[in-house]
Amino acid sequence: MIYDSRDLLLEYIRRERQKNFSIRKLCFDKQRDFLLDPNRFKLAYCSRRSGKTYGCGADLLDTCTTVAGAQVLYITLSRLSAKKIIWRQLLELNEVYKLGGIPKLGDLSISFPHNNSILYLSGAKDSSDIEKFRGMNLHKVYIDEAQSFKSYLIDLIEDILEPCLWDYQGTLSLIGTPNSACKGTFFEACHNKGIFKNWSVHKWNIIDNTELPFLKEGLTIEQFMQNELTRKNIDPSDPSYQRETLGRWVRSEDSLVFHLDSNNLYDNAPPICEDYIMGCDIGFNDHDSIVILGWKDGIIYVVDEWHKSQITISEFAKEIRRMDEKWKPIKKVIDSGALGKKITEEIRVRFGINLIAAEKQRKYEFIELVNSDLKQNVIKLRKDSEVVQELELLQYDSKGKIDERFTDDLVDSFLYAYREARHFSYIEPPELFKVGTKEWGLRQEKIIENELEDKLSQEQKQDEWGFNY
Ligand SMILES: Nc1ncnc2c1ncn2[C@@H]1O[C@H](COP(=O)(O)OP(=O)(O)O)[C@@H](O)[C@H]1O
Ligand SMILES: [Mg+2]
Repeated sequence: MIYDSRDLLLEYIRRERQKNFSIRKLCFDKQRDFLLDPNRFKLAYCSRRSGKTYGCGADLLDTCTTVAGAQVLYITLSRLSAKKIIWRQLLELNEVYKLGGIPKLGDLSISFPHNNSILYLSGAKDSSDIEKFRGMNLHKVYIDEAQSFKSYLIDLIEDILEPCLWDYQGTLSLIGTPNSACKGTFFEACHNKGIFKNWSVHKWNIIDNTELPFLKEGLTIEQFMQNELTRKNIDPSDPSYQRETLGRWVRSEDSLVFHLDSNNLYDNAPPICEDYIMGCDIGFNDHDSIVILGWKDGIIYVVDEWHKSQITISEFAKEIRRMDEKWKPIKKVIDSGALGKKITEEIRVRFGINLIAAEKQRKYEFIELVNSDLKQNVIKLRKDSEVVQELELLQYDSKGKIDERFTDDLVDSFLYAYREARHFSYIEPPELFKVGTKEWGLRQEKIIENELEDKLSQEQKQDEWGFNY
């Protein structure tokens, strides 16, 4: 192969710049301790802005540039989030340190032709979305924002990713921030429960991040923290401050969108209900979901759920039909997203299924109604369902909006169906007593008394209007 002098010069510059690209040089102490921890299975829980994502980006690029033929993978909830969270930072490091990576926006990857390595970014929003990683041969995997993953995170790790790491004895790392619910798989992982028993656990917070851009502008970390407290009008004991800024697992009811407790959960099969409603959501990012709820004696039971990503309209319609035949709902409501009426019409014409547009206004008011029903134990959900996991983890962000880092596809379908439920029209039947007993006698007296009162007030009304003359 013939190189011209320009190529040689560029290669020289690349190698010189790349020499400066090392985790030891680039990362601050706690970040480095985590990244260089030789344990193959590790995790870090930290506050926001503590350098989690930066650290994992630097490590993935480092592996790609130093290990020939390396394949590394960054996973977060969705491809779109992956792009938002880390893509720009990877491009910047690649550019500044002349790492020689060729980015491909289309498939969110960066390839390194000089040594045949490749870095992939991907999303894994649900159990049906994780199969795509099966069979990959990986050197390193990071799962970012792990606090937002539901229990399929365990399947993703055990069934899919672990075998992908066998050949090269690769490493798997989880990174995330404590969630408001102090629940979920990441919470268990941070406490070495279940499959995470032998994982290496690291923690640090924003105070340890000596590379925060504002520090270079002259603002100290103490001033920044004080400003945050003043801006939010809170003191350091505030649970959200403890969690988001200090990276501690502190539960805060106020930040949770829904307030469930064990009284809202059922273990066995739900009863046969008086009526059912189907709620469907064609999700943002190709994630579709269906929830069926029914009611009996004034109580709502969430009886079925289904969700899947990246499916066609025909597949979705097939699932709607299956659920329709199974539950015979009196109403089927759908939020068909940006394509709105077109999709609803398409499903009606092609598949003969009549769906009505879901009511979407006043979402926050309906959330409060759900909470009120949850408190009165009027809503019952199956203990091991995914909608329960979503409801339990969903939290508000610092602006009081639903935190986008959490999944709420099933929650949306549930809310659409809930709005149509008529469980509240239920009237409790009178207690039946055995004829001739004392209780029966008293009840009969009461009934006669009521009838006489009604009759009397009716006669009085007629007198007032003068009909009796
Ligand atoms: N080692 C580092 N060198 C330079 N900048 C860093 C480093 N670690 C973190 N940062 C910067 O600190 C800020 C927060 O980092 P980030 O990784 O986004 O935090 P987190 O993922 O914990 O919220 C970002 O501006 C990031 O660029
Ligand atoms: Mg991050």
